[in-house]
Amino acid sequence: MTQQIDYSEKIPNNVNLAGDRRLQRALENWQPRFADWWLEMGPVGFQDNEIYLRTAVDVGREGWAHFSHVKLPDYRWGIFLSEPEEDRRIGFGEMKGEPVWQEVPGEFRTDLRRLIVVQGDTEPASVEQQRYLGKTAPSLYDLRNLFQINVEEGRHLWAMVYLLHAHFGRDGREEADALLQRNSGDPDHPRILGAFNEKTSDWLSFLLFTYFTDRDGKYQLGALKESAFDPLSRTCDFMLKEEAHHMFVGASGIARVIQRTCEVMKEYDTDDVRPYGAIDLPTLQKYINFHFSVSLDLFGSETSTNAANYYSAGLKGRFAEPSYEDDHVLVNDEDAISEIVDGRWLETSRPKITVVNEQLRRSYIEDCAKGMRRWNRILEEHGIQYRLDLPNEAFHRQVGIYRDAYVAPSGEILSESDWESSESNFLPTDSDRDFVISLMQPVYSPGQMASWIAPPVSGIHTQPIDYEYVRL
Ligand SMILES: [Fe+2]
Ligand SMILES: [Fe+2]
Repeated sequence: MTQQIDYSEKIPNNVNLAGDRRLQRALENWQPRFADWWLEMGPVGFQDNEIYLRTAVDVGREGWAHFSHVKLPDYRWGIFLSEPEEDRRIGFGEMKGEPVWQEVPGEFRTDLRRLIVVQGDTEPASVEQQRYLGKTAPSLYDLRNLFQINVEEGRHLWAMVYLLHAHFGRDGREEADALLQRNSGDPDHPRILGAFNEKTSDWLSFLLFTYFTDRDGKYQLGALKESAFDPLSRTCDFMLKEEAHHMFVGASGIARVIQRTCEVMKEYDTDDVRPYGAIDLPTLQKYINFHFSVSLDLFGSETSTNAANYYSAGLKGRFAEPSYEDDHVLVNDEDAISEIVDGRWLETSRPKITVVNEQLRRSYIEDCAKGMRRWNRILEEHGIQYRLDLPNEAFHRQVGIYRDAYVAPSGEILSESDWESSESNFLPTDSDRDFVISLMQPVYSPGQMASWIAPPVSGIHTQPIDYEYVRL
């Protein structure tokens, strides 16, 4: 049973850690390693500044978070699981309808541990990728949002480490240690997934990362929330609550970039906004193309026997599994996927269970498209003709069935030489990146914004926009 979160304990939790001395000691041993990692690989600077952060205090529907100024190293990272659902049953796969598991079944131990490790690896990875961004924040409001996301990704690491320690014995503890030993971009010990080894060197990339890559996180967590392994399900359920803010930072942040660009376009009656310190729309489109395509890779291959096995075993479902109107076993159904065969698009039918990754990806793409429509509405409201688009899902892929194809953002299949001559129109060039980086001048007075981004619509929690979100 869950209980209130106890903040008098060394590790705040609602899993009755005090009732399991061995586990408590093991996690208290891991805690200083986490603290070292935070100082070594977490945000550069600002560790002594007070930052207006939210901390989880309850897992219930109402008032789950508390806001106050805290120093980053004093943030109370804890272990929080959502309320258990009474008589919860497995919702999909071969064991559909059976009671969910509170312990890991031996035959699925390796697969479950792998799923948890891969998810856990992404959490500290993004903190590492973003560690230098504090130096160039466009406002105190944004600086605070960056750190809020960073501490919560740290907490998501705690969430996965708890599962490893509590349910996987010695190899679980070893995996928990390894989560701090791999580092983003480290040539010898890189993070597991490609997108998490890319640099997040500027705030435009950061905002798009939170829009596209944190949204991949939402879909992965949503799929794991359906898991028959109940502690994993409840952990992910609560993580999703925190994740919503990360995507808000991206969606509202890019909306503010577009707002600012529109204002400059109108004021100077030009598309060429770069001289005025704003980001031109074609450059933004190229950044979208990049972040969307690397995020699609995170879903794995379109057809996957691993994903099919996870699904039939009940380990990982689809996003909002109950909303699918099929039998949730999928062995007798077919689903069509688009392939490129001999230089042409071809719809092919596959056993539905082999394309669950693709189904998860489709829900994700629909969700991405919603925010794009809101961004385009800003352009429309300013009477600007230009429209932003999601590139075709086969564009610029390193993983899956499109890996070896050259496909334009429009979906047109290209030859390798056509691709090479057009690539600079599709993806940010070095000079685009240099330009964006040149805009990244820190703005640290309350209420002031950098030249390339409009102010937010409102402040954080109940505070005004010009609040001192970070005390410098
Ligand atoms: Fe996360
Ligand atoms: Fe996140």
